[in-house]
Amino acid sequence: AMRIGILTGGGDCPGLNAVIRAVVRSAHLHGDEIVGFRDGWGGVLDGATVELPIERVAGILPRGGTILGTSRRSALEHRDVVRRRFEEQRLDGFIAVGGNGTLFAANELAGEFPIVGVPKTIDNDISGTDRTFGFDTAVHIAAAAIDRLHTTAESHYRNLIVEVMGRNAGWIALHAGLAGGADVILVPERPFDVADVAARVLARRGRGRGFSIIVVAEGATAKDGELVTKGRTDPLGRPLLGGIGHWLEGELEARTRAETRVVVLGHVQRGGTATAYDRVLASRMGQRAHLAVHERRFGTMAALRGPRIELVPLAEATVPNLVPDEELDLAEAFLG
Ligand code: F6P
Repeated sequence: AMRIGILTGGGDCPGLNAVIRAVVRSAHLHGDEIVGFRDGWGGVLDGATVELPIERVAGILPRGGTILGTSRRSALEHRDVVRRRFEEQRLDGFIAVGGNGTLFAANELAGEFPIVGVPKTIDNDISGTDRTFGFDTAVHIAAAAIDRLHTTAESHYRNLIVEVMGRNAGWIALHAGLAGGADVILVPERPFDVADVAARVLARRGRGRGFSIIVVAEGATAKDGELVTKGRTDPLGRPLLGGIGHWLEGELEARTRAETRVVVLGHVQRGGTATAYDRVLASRMGQRAHLAVHERRFGTMAALRGPRIELVPLAEATVPNLVPDEELDLAEAFLG
C-alpha cells in the first residue's frame, strides 16, 4: 500500500472537490492512503496536513471550491522543506492539482520527487489536455449572464459590455460569447481596434438593431489603448488585469453616442457547483492521477485526449494554450 499526498493550488475552480473525492475513492479501492496538504504549496511549506479517509469525502461532489483550501504560494525555492515533508509524511507519491503556476512548480520538482499533475483552471489555458475542468462551468455562468444582459440591453437600446475572466487566453470570452449570441467578442489573442468595434455597433444600428452585446476577455488589449492597464499595478504591486471593460465603456459611449454599460463578471465565474460535464471530467482525471501514482508513472499529468483520459508528460502543462486562429476566424460568422 502507498501513502500519497495531494494539494490543490492556484485560483480555485469548480470540480476540485470531485478530483479529491475521485483520488480518495480510487486509493481506497487499491488500499492506498491519501493525505491532503492545506492551501496549495503553503501546506507543504508549513506542514499543514489533513488525513483523507473515504468518510472525509462523502457529500463533497457538488460543492464548489476545495475542501483543502488553496493559495498561490510556491515551494520552488524550498526543496529542502519539500524533502523533509516527504520524509515526515512517508510519502510514496504526490498529486498536484493546479493551473499554470502549480503545475510549473510540479514539473520543476518532478525531477527530484514522485509527482503526478492534474490540470485545473476555468481559463482552459493549459496545453497537453483538450480541456481543463472548471471551464465548462465558467462558460455556463458567463453565457447565462449574457442571456440576461441581452433583454435589458434590448429594452434600453444600449451597448452592454461583459468583461469575463481567462487571463491571457480568450477561451471563456469566445465560448460564452458564442453561446450567448454576442455581437462582438474581444480576446487577448487578437488586439482590437476600438474604432472597428464602434463601427460594428453603428452598422448594427444602421440595420435597426439598437443594442449590442460586446464580450471582452479581461486580458484583451486595444491597439490604440496603451492607457488601459498595461504596466499598471495595484497598491500591493500586483499587475492590474482587467479594467479593459471600463475603458471600452467610455470609448464606445463617445464613439457610438449610445448609452453604454459594463458588467465585470469576476469571481462569480469560479464560484459554486460544477456542471455535470466538469464533475465527470474532474472525477476521471482524479482517478487517472491516483492510478498513475499507483503505477509509479511519475512526472506525468492526467489529460483529456479525444474521448480518453491519458497520461502526458507534465512538462506539456507549462506551455500556454491560446485560442487558435482558425477557431477565431470561424466565430466571425456568428458575430454582429
Ligand atoms: O486563473 C483563474 C482566474 O480566475 C483568472 O481567470 C483570473 O485572471 C484570476 O484567476 C483571478 O485571480 P484572483 O482570484 O487571484 O483574483
